[in-house]
Amino acid sequence: MSATVYLETFGCQMNVADSERAAVRLRGAGFGLTNSAETADVIIFNTCSVRERAAHKVFTRIGEVRRLRLAKEPIVGVMGCVAQLEGGDLFNNSPSVDLVVGTRATDRLPTLIGRALNGEQRVIDLDERAETEKWDVPATARTSKYVAFVPIIEGCNKFCTYCIVPYSRGREQSRPASEIVAEMKELRDYGYREIHLIGQNVNSYRPKTEAGLEGFTGVTPFCRLLRAAAATGMERIKFTTSFPRDFHPDIVAAIEDHENLCEWVHLPAQSGSNRVLRAMRRGHTAADYLCRIATIKNARRRIAITSDIIVGFPGETDADFRETTRLVKQVGYDALYIFKYSERSGTPAARLDDDVSQSTKTDRFLELENLQQSIQRKVYDAYVGRETRVLAERNSTKSNDDITGHSTCHKVVNFPRAFVRAGQVATVRVTEAKVNSLYGEVLSAN
Ligand code: 5AD
Ligand code: SF4
Repeated sequence: MSATVYLETFGCQMNVADSERAAVRLRGAGFGLTNSAETADVIIFNTCSVRERAAHKVFTRIGEVRRLRLAKEPIVGVMGCVAQLEGGDLFNNSPSVDLVVGTRATDRLPTLIGRALNGEQRVIDLDERAETEKWDVPATARTSKYVAFVPIIEGCNKFCTYCIVPYSRGREQSRPASEIVAEMKELRDYGYREIHLIGQNVNSYRPKTEAGLEGFTGVTPFCRLLRAAAATGMERIKFTTSFPRDFHPDIVAAIEDHENLCEWVHLPAQSGSNRVLRAMRRGHTAADYLCRIATIKNARRRIAITSDIIVGFPGETDADFRETTRLVKQVGYDALYIFKYSERSGTPAARLDDDVSQSTKTDRFLELENLQQSIQRKVYDAYVGRETRVLAERNSTKSNDDITGHSTCHKVVNFPRAFVRAGQVATVRVTEAKVNSLYGEVLSAN
């Protein structure tokens, strides 16, 4: 019998996409995929290192698996960002690890596992992708049956001083548009109704060839890709993450022109203080950022705006933090992801004195969270009475009678499931605004 593999994923959508690709390659090589960590011959953790807590998770999980599997020890592998960064140190720090697979070695996973199963000790691959490597994942092999993630660019060249991504994911590499468009058409034909174009910084999309972009206008290659994507006829297209400095107004124009480009932009500000933004090396000021926001707000359609903020960056004073609260109030975000600064070894910011105490970080986190809640209440209340198109994704965990999904403006919307199946798109009239979700009644579904 062929060996079975249990694959567990942490972190961002890029990791989800990588795990999908890993699963396809493993099946192709004759491995069986299993949902049981208790019986699998091989256990692979696809890891995240963006903050300390995320990076630590894998060690907790390795410990749990070891306790679970005293009788027959499985092969344990670490792939993804922690693997790329820690490399061979993982073998010393965590003796149960047999296999370390970097962020660009996904396609070689079956061979690497094969070597470990044959008794080779400390198998490691931190090399680059092969030039010929294909990124595509067949529609049949997706984590979600209804929403598909389509990577368009991998890695990051920005080197924001706090961020580990340029080290864990390497330099930017864009996928040819022809490949992206072909994948979208396949997904569309298979019945997918929503896709997310993903990358650490989608605005930097810069493929080596024109293939797939011919005939599509746009000020930047990403704007052209958006229009090429819209032309596939995929019903709902979202994209994330946008980098403020490279966020061109033509992106907003593309959204205005194409109904199937969804009205949602995730544009992380990180801070509202110019001093902190400079120390973070973000390449934009608060005013530059607000200028982009104004373009988005002036669009004919209301475009939802979400953001990430880091509180407690080294040297952040109370006055700096006030600038952040000011910016958050000015924008009036639809949602905000707040993070306490987490020192990542090897980044330029790690050399700074992390002089903001944990308690101050917590205080600022809570204050910002409170502020956002009051802003969000107003934003969400304004949706009451309005109609929105929601892709039903799964039964609600809170109520047996409800189903849950996302609107085109990327809000969680719950509604009665009596007349709607997962995978259908429902027109929902919003009847109630909750803290982080909307509730509504179904007008129609198809
Ligand atoms: N500490 C805290 N938050 C971080 N992020 C990235 N690196 C760090 C760090 N070292 C946050 C940023 C980014 C999001 C994905 O994670 O806000 O936009
Ligand atoms: Fe990290 Fe900055 Fe690149 Fe985003 S743009 S992945 S925050 S370095």
